[in-house]
Amino acid sequence: MRTHTLITLLILLSQTLFAQKYQPSLQNEKKVNALLAKMTLDEKIGQLTLYTTDWGSTGPTIREGYKNDIRSGACGNLFNSHTTEFVRELQRVAVEETRLKIPLLFGFDVIHGYKTIFPIPLGEASCWDMNAIELSAHIAAKEAAAAGLNWTFAPMVDVSRDPRWGRVMEGAGEDTYLGAQIAAARVRGIQGKKLGGTDALLACVKHYAAYGAPVAGRDYNTVDMSERFLREYYMPPYQAAVEAGAATVMTSFNDYDGVPATGNKYLIDNILRKEWGFKGFVVSDYTGINEMVNHGVVKDEKEAGELAFNAGMDMDMQGSIFQRFLKQSVKEGKVREADINLAVKRILHLKYDLGLFDDPYKFCNAEREKSTLLSAENRAAARDISRKSIVLLKNDNQTLPLQKGKKVALIGPLAANKSELIGNWNGAGNANDCVSLREGLEKYLGTTINTIEACQVNSTDKSGFPAALDAAKNADVIIVAVGETAMMSGEAAARAEITLPGVQEDLVLQLCQTGKPVVVVLMNGRPLAIPNIAEKASAILETWWLGTEAGNAITDVLYGEYNPTGKLPMSFPRTVGQVPIYYNHKSTGRPYDPNSKWTSKYIDQLNSPQWPFGFGLSYTTFEFGAPTAKATLSKDAFVQVSVTVSNTGKRAGTETVQLYIRDLVGSVTRPVKELKSFQQVTLQPGESRVVTFNLSKKDFSFYRKNMRFGMESGTFEIMTGGDSERLTRTTITL
Ligand code: BGC
Repeated sequence: MRTHTLITLLILLSQTLFAQKYQPSLQNEKKVNALLAKMTLDEKIGQLTLYTTDWGSTGPTIREGYKNDIRSGACGNLFNSHTTEFVRELQRVAVEETRLKIPLLFGFDVIHGYKTIFPIPLGEASCWDMNAIELSAHIAAKEAAAAGLNWTFAPMVDVSRDPRWGRVMEGAGEDTYLGAQIAAARVRGIQGKKLGGTDALLACVKHYAAYGAPVAGRDYNTVDMSERFLREYYMPPYQAAVEAGAATVMTSFNDYDGVPATGNKYLIDNILRKEWGFKGFVVSDYTGINEMVNHGVVKDEKEAGELAFNAGMDMDMQGSIFQRFLKQSVKEGKVREADINLAVKRILHLKYDLGLFDDPYKFCNAEREKSTLLSAENRAAARDISRKSIVLLKNDNQTLPLQKGKKVALIGPLAANKSELIGNWNGAGNANDCVSLREGLEKYLGTTINTIEACQVNSTDKSGFPAALDAAKNADVIIVAVGETAMMSGEAAARAEITLPGVQEDLVLQLCQTGKPVVVVLMNGRPLAIPNIAEKASAILETWWLGTEAGNAITDVLYGEYNPTGKLPMSFPRTVGQVPIYYNHKSTGRPYDPNSKWTSKYIDQLNSPQWPFGFGLSYTTFEFGAPTAKATLSKDAFVQVSVTVSNTGKRAGTETVQLYIRDLVGSVTRPVKELKSFQQVTLQPGESRVVTFNLSKKDFSFYRKNMRFGMESGTFEIMTGGDSERLTRTTITL
């Protein structure tokens, strides 16, 4: 396994070196043009069309309706069809029964694994380990590419500061810098070394743009922010994904500055294409074009198609607007056929790059499918990444790690659950393949564990409490697994309350009253507000939805087989009233002072979160010296920062050394801190190490008063630490 991991890392490293902005391959240009010259307008529009197929509870259904659309050339791309058998049959229709034999693209939401399910993306973002994240995306892509697919609607890179929004589970949390690093890592993992490899898919960066900032955290809601905010906080992850080579981009459902992203020429054409040099194709979100009628910016669907297409949209997902109206729009001169040609070329280029014209069935090898999916190797990687994604939020009196001899009571609605553990957007994952917490513990301890469900995740029934309390009294330690159901996060799953649903909090608090040590294992898709549990529990592990290997990974951490390293990618509020809450806020003219009424604060709650961004404990302790900073002004190391980190505890452990800066005076207000770099360092007990960071000039730059990106001379505070609150500091004048 060790050698294998090393080899995988070397492969990933070489991929990293190759990752660059997507460029359609010049050698296919002639073929693309020749094919285009043969196409009728209808066939061209067919290439701009993407339809879903049907996947019933028992398997795929092939309807004549969409087979006919493929046959006539009206539909050039499909999604939600996977498995080699299903895909092969549909591809056969495209390449054997159509006039021009153009192969189909097959897309699917492979968000955190295809069959081997990895932690939900927000959970995985807690590992702050880019190699692990890249590997997870790569395995997901490899499995999907072995099951007929060639395109995934991932990564989702929407920055979000609002845990009410259910889709925070799909992203990398609240931070722009961390989000951009993760976006690039995921693209590298998905697209592999080279498009066309049978271990790679086309990535689709979504949801462009600013989908993560809906007003009041309600999905699909309006987004209203200044361009400065958009560019500074929300855009960098999309751009990083494009820079890393993402071949496709999906627009978002929301409007921005009054224009739906689906029809927003400024976003698609000016910024994405012209400023960033994106050369792949743009696809709408599901019926996003049709929805512009509801937005109220067009009078009917035909106009919606024109607005979207002329804004730069290449492909219509599911809405059939292009199919129904685009030809008429060309006739009326509202859409230019020359622009349709450009859009078709973008799509054909990618089909050539994937090698589909040479072998349309290259992703349909049933044997590869069998040997790749859920392989022992993939499961081992999932277990490793899952344990890296767990965040230790509290550990009073060294409750954790547990001693093997202690008698455990396992309680809670998620203690033996499997179906919720694979989370929302679980690809082709199967709950039966998932290791529950109970199974993980029993396997590790080699004994059965008294397990009591006690209540459902979201009910008012407390009739199971007495049995749980009895079990607790007879145990040395209580592990209680509580959280959300998978459908409580993800799309269309905003919550106005972000507490533990149902009577779960009451269950935990009653267990705490027994006086026994209580270890709370949280399984959820968003930051939760749990102040009472934060106060009363002995230990708390945030495990998110870890996927297939969840139970094994949690057991590894509970028993100290793995010393936790996870760090929160999003602040956990004390109450929903603090939302949006994020670490990189501005100072204001009246910065928070708990002793002064006339400052920016609440009269009934602290300003600080329950747990800040970047926070996570270890079974050992780390101390940070004061950082030193020197200006070398070279290209790669404009400023060099060094800090001594020491392991002051009794175990070996890994700390994520975080570096934040603050520009003390700017032509526009600057955040009180911004993450600019981080490194993970493993230290033996008593060991100290100097960690050095090279910051570039870009790290000190921002959108100045005149909206030009650049640096302003002055004094900067440099902060280092193991989370965004406990920091050691120095200053530097540049
Ligand atoms: C979601 C996208 C997803 C698409 C296709 C939409 O509802 O917003 O994230 O990729 O469906 O499944």
